[in-house]
Amino acid sequence: MADGLAHDVVREQVRKRYGDIAEKAGGSCCAANTCCTPDALGQPDASVKLGYSEDDLNAVPDGANMGLGCGNPQAIAALKAGETVLDLGSGGGFDCFLAAQQVGQTGYVIGVDMTPEMVSKARANTAKNAHGNVEFRLGEIEHLPVADSSVDVILSNCVVNLSPDKPQVYRDAFRVLRPGGRLAISDVVAVKPLPPQIKASPDAHCGCIAGAATISDLERLLVEAGFADVQIRVKEESHEFIKDWFPGSGVEEWVRSAEVEAHKTAPPACRSSVATTGEGPNMDAQTKELIAIGASVAGHCQPCLTYHIAEARELGVADDRIQAAIEVGHMVEKGATAAMREFAKRTVGIPTGQAVGCCPDTTAKSSKSCCG
Ligand SMILES: C[S@@+](CC[C@H](N)C(=O)[O-])C[C@H]1O[C@@H](n2cnc3c(N)ncnc32)[C@H](O)[C@@H]1O
Repeated sequence: MADGLAHDVVREQVRKRYGDIAEKAGGSCCAANTCCTPDALGQPDASVKLGYSEDDLNAVPDGANMGLGCGNPQAIAALKAGETVLDLGSGGGFDCFLAAQQVGQTGYVIGVDMTPEMVSKARANTAKNAHGNVEFRLGEIEHLPVADSSVDVILSNCVVNLSPDKPQVYRDAFRVLRPGGRLAISDVVAVKPLPPQIKASPDAHCGCIAGAATISDLERLLVEAGFADVQIRVKEESHEFIKDWFPGSGVEEWVRSAEVEAHKTAPPACRSSVATTGEGPNMDAQTKELIAIGASVAGHCQPCLTYHIAEARELGVADDRIQAAIEVGHMVEKGATAAMREFAKRTVGIPTGQAVGCCPDTTAKSSKSCCG
């Protein structure tokens, strides 16, 4: 079977399972062998065990918390007002509604889920949400219905383990994040290689066990997708609630809940460090020469200084700017203490007890190093 077809078979099983759960929600309990705990479907006990507060539970529309998560991605996302947030596999919308409160009216939250019944349920819950800054889209997390570089934060709660194509999930997550954006997800990871009979079980797959990646595989997938600062924190205590997912089977021996964080770093041209290294298109020729003058002073290179002062003058840089660059180089050479003393003297007039600056009898016009 071609990969794509095999992936669709797995997704269809998962979709059927979570479609049934969405339709039964509000009834007695979740379907057998799902990753929801026996006291799930929004029961406070289950959610508090995952790290949500009573306030969180009271803040969302009734029915949004279906008890299907394995952690609390909000707790690690540090959401800020005005951010655009994307929730992968949003289910009934629990994490989306909490995120909507945190990002406020100037922010926006998009939930994506491939199960139509879940999306319908979440949209019905949206009508009960006062914020009006949440939207649910039908789609696969491997092929997100979201524009490139348009999202600040990606959340997800107990979903990526269900995907048959995790490399593609992380590649598409990277695509939609803005440079500087971050990933904050809760998911199930394998702490030991899973036995073949568990790996082959559709029930164990739909129940968030069989598809769990190992920690080293997960780290590699994130790095290969382009993410930096990857952190994976295994929550040892999670075996307490995982043992209730398939009671008596011992699955808690192989998997744990984990918090996963990673960043899409800004490209070099946007980083401030570039401006000080002289690389990149934003640095003009005059600034490069002024930096070279300071570096020549700090590095005690008189021929370099002579050369760069001449170059700077050739480019039309005024002598007072050249003098200032020489002073900066001198401060760098003297170290942070002298630099801070000089800064204090100049900005708030605090007496320093000692004049700091370039050699007073040397002028830039002489083309000599004041320190050489
Ligand atoms: C375990 S539930 C978690 C729901 C929600 N995140 C929560 O914490 O309540 C998994 C959800 O992910 C969705 N899902 C699973 N695989 C998906 C995929 N490949 N693309 C999009 N949604 C997916 C399912 O339809 C289901 O709603």
